[in-house]
Amino acid sequence: MQNDRTLVTSALPYANGPIHIGHLAGAYLPADLFVRYSRLCRHDIVYVCGSDEMGVAIMIRARQEGTSPKDLVDRYHPMIADSLDRIGISFDYYGRTTSDVHRETSQEFFNRLSEKGAFVTKSEQQPFDPSEDIFLADRFVVGTCPNCGNENAHGDQCENCGTALSPTELLNPRSALSDAKLEWRETIHWYLPLGEMQKEVETWIKTKSSWKPNVLGQVGSWLKEGLRERAITRDVPWGVPVPEEAAQRAGVDASGKVIYVWFDAPLGYISATREWASQVGQPELWREYWQDEGTRLVHFIGKDNIVFHCIMFPAMLMAHGGYVLPADVPANEFLNIEGKKLSTSRGWAVWLHEYLEAFSPDLLRYALASTLPETKDADFSWADFQARCNNELADVLGNFANRTLTFAHRYADGKLPALRNPSSVDQEVLAQIAAAPARVGGAYASFKNREAVFETIGLARVGNKYFNDTEPWKTRKDNPEACANTIHVSLQLLASLSILMDPVLPFSAARLRRMLNMPEVVDSSKRTDESTDALDWNSAGSPLLSPGHVLGEVEILFSKIDDEVIEAQVARLGSEQSGGVEYEEAKEEVVYDDFAKLDLRVGTIAVAERVPKADRLVRLEVDLGYETRQILSGIAEHFELDSLVGRRVVVVANLKPRKLRGLESKGMVLLAEDPDGALHFVAPEGIDGAVVR
Ligand code: 2FM
Ligand code: ZN
Repeated sequence: MQNDRTLVTSALPYANGPIHIGHLAGAYLPADLFVRYSRLCRHDIVYVCGSDEMGVAIMIRARQEGTSPKDLVDRYHPMIADSLDRIGISFDYYGRTTSDVHRETSQEFFNRLSEKGAFVTKSEQQPFDPSEDIFLADRFVVGTCPNCGNENAHGDQCENCGTALSPTELLNPRSALSDAKLEWRETIHWYLPLGEMQKEVETWIKTKSSWKPNVLGQVGSWLKEGLRERAITRDVPWGVPVPEEAAQRAGVDASGKVIYVWFDAPLGYISATREWASQVGQPELWREYWQDEGTRLVHFIGKDNIVFHCIMFPAMLMAHGGYVLPADVPANEFLNIEGKKLSTSRGWAVWLHEYLEAFSPDLLRYALASTLPETKDADFSWADFQARCNNELADVLGNFANRTLTFAHRYADGKLPALRNPSSVDQEVLAQIAAAPARVGGAYASFKNREAVFETIGLARVGNKYFNDTEPWKTRKDNPEACANTIHVSLQLLASLSILMDPVLPFSAARLRRMLNMPEVVDSSKRTDESTDALDWNSAGSPLLSPGHVLGEVEILFSKIDDEVIEAQVARLGSEQSGGVEYEEAKEEVVYDDFAKLDLRVGTIAVAERVPKADRLVRLEVDLGYETRQILSGIAEHFELDSLVGRRVVVVANLKPRKLRGLESKGMVLLAEDPDGALHFVAPEGIDGAVVR
């Protein structure tokens, strides 16, 4: 089992929310397919991952949920680990970046780089929130987008027009935490001078011509633009602290400074391997996988992580020395859902824990693996999921298993009949079985999972066609030898399939093996025990059952999924039932007197007209009982004009009038906005002019 030592990683998911199928399709399922296949081949492979628990993404979410970063990650880490486990992602170790080992590993690594003079430190002006007394990450700065005028653009990107920004480009920048006006203050940080490493990175990437074109394309354009130094520390209250030793060496006061999350997170792969090694009782074993040149390191990620895994992390490893560099980074593209971009804030996602409430894991593994975004963005639809389950799993694979086993129980006494004088058709099928491990395996080995799954189900199709063509229900009466041969070959095919389908359908493969009462097969879910004489991937090319072998009990392998079940899932998309709704942050408390300053009144819309040349504005006349007000409201895209007249509304009656498009707007109509942006009137009872208090 030597010479094939492989270390596989999947991107560490942020522990700031549950896992959805976009995550699964990007970094977890493809890795798991590869790992299970490799274990079945008896390769020496270790698969690690863990929760990414540091960084700004965690802090933002914690604030939104009104909790601390620690409580947040303590809640999501087990939830993520559980969903991934139940869907069958078979990590050897799943860690977390808040562990002691991770802190030590990243600090050691940081120290070593600082010792080697691989960093520079420099002082720069950074955005600072004086009311909260903290420096702000780019994401925590908001202001007006210079490109489109969106007043709530973030310091790293404007979500409205998609422009990448830096905080200095925003107009009227303010703090997203407190709304305070931004200050710029001097602060010192460590930088990794990637620019100086450009040549080294380029030379190394040139040896990777076999990598996927989508990956090489992105890397190429980064290199073409020229690498620039990157700050790898931050002034935030959550993260791995900058080690004191490095701070002293640089003569910097490091209090309050932490290592940037994109520096520590990939080191999480090393920490997880260390923790795994300790867990298996060989604490030094991690070194073989990271420091022995013979190891093949493979990172599975989604496309948004390419630059970090193909440039930044390798550069860190090069700067350190003594570590293997990634041998491959088979990144996937994005997965859309029902033709639309996946969006957690709009609830447009399929959450793993919700999926698992309704279906068994293998169905999604199969449907997703068949449509993975391997070369371009792909789409997941519930209709396709249903079709794959019903037309392929149930009608092809399940049907072949069921008819073969039922027939063998009924007409061969539940045993494998011997093969005697096989026909050319029998031999042709046996030849297909012999060729299958290399065919399916070749696809898995080169990360072509869709092809591997297609070849797998193709083999079940071969089985069904063979069963149909040889008509054992007829030969049973006039040619018992031919009938026995059909049963024999079909059962051998099924036995081989139970191994070849295992990477994608591990739970069903195990059930099928029980029905076949198969001899032991290598367990694809854990590290292969070298001494086992269990059947493996390559044995699936030869007949696996001996004549006289007694079969187990028949069960239904896959049941069909009804339309209503699928309709319920579709209805769940984008609705509040679906997890992951991102509620707007709670506002600061105010005293009653502040509230009482508002003159809120009940009214009825009397007139509603479009404002010429303004796409979004509607001119309303609102009857407040004691007077009628002209109010301009930006709701044209949300309501049909005809539906507005007669609506009861609440009006802020003492809002200072302002002019929009030359028309005076006296007051404001209250609207409720769902997290997905849908607007609803706040509909009151009471007479027009009634005071709301
Ligand atoms: O994009 C993300 O979800 C990151 N948490 C991935 C980190 S991958 C690795 F470097 F740890
Ligand atoms: Zn913009």
